[in-house]
Amino acid sequence: MRKKIVAGNWKMNKTASETTELIDALKNQLNPSDVEVMIAPTFVNLQAAVKQTSDSHIEVIAQNMHQAQSGAYTGEIAADMLKDIGVQTVIIGHSERRAYFGETDAILAEKTKAALDNGLRVVFCFGEELADRQSEKHFELVASQLKNAFFALPSSDWNNIVLAYEPVRAIGTGETASPEQAQQIHYELRAFFASIDENIAQGLQILYGGSMNATNAEALLAQPDIDGGLIGGASLNADDFIKI
Ligand code: PGA
Repeated sequence: MRKKIVAGNWKMNKTASETTELIDALKNQLNPSDVEVMIAPTFVNLQAAVKQTSDSHIEVIAQNMHQAQSGAYTGEIAADMLKDIGVQTVIIGHSERRAYFGETDAILAEKTKAALDNGLRVVFCFGEELADRQSEKHFELVASQLKNAFFALPSSDWNNIVLAYEPVRAIGTGETASPEQAQQIHYELRAFFASIDENIAQGLQILYGGSMNATNAEALLAQPDIDGGLIGGASLNADDFIKI
């Protein structure tokens, strides 16, 4: 049985004091037993957030990392730095990283490998643009994003990967896919992995992302192949995130 994951991607939001405040509100009201809850504050607030959540069920995860082990990469953060402060999971390949920071499939493959080699779990994001959907090329596109990132890895590594399917048109726009549309693609994704390894496919947690909120989450999360959500905007508000 796959456990559901509800992950909040805070992006470039919340100062240190706001981070503490939001975590306090979540800790007071969240008591999940059958759901994995993750939050991804900004890098500068990660260490404090890890400490603050150490007595709770909330896992603090990173939004990104660099693929190199160390070195002259001004402004970047390496996998072992995350591990060292108690972070165990990292988001890789968010569409904003792809679109605004030039992260290609090749770079994301390196990042994924570096994260796994350092013992981090990866929440790997992928998804098509509206134009790919309109030209009905969306499945081809997401399959190639996945192949480029994973197919050089031993399939045993896939146990440490969570997938987050996020159609780009749905991110931050309020235009979520319908639960049926989202289920259909999650089903196809699982079938795609099952053609390689049935066991891994059945265990793979595939999250949906893109305008998930307190109102639409129930219907999306009720779909059999949707194993959770990666939530941006609605994760910045304690009441909304708790409802999800
Ligand atoms: P959103 O963001 O929930 O604000 O659409 C989702 C994401 O970018 O992961």
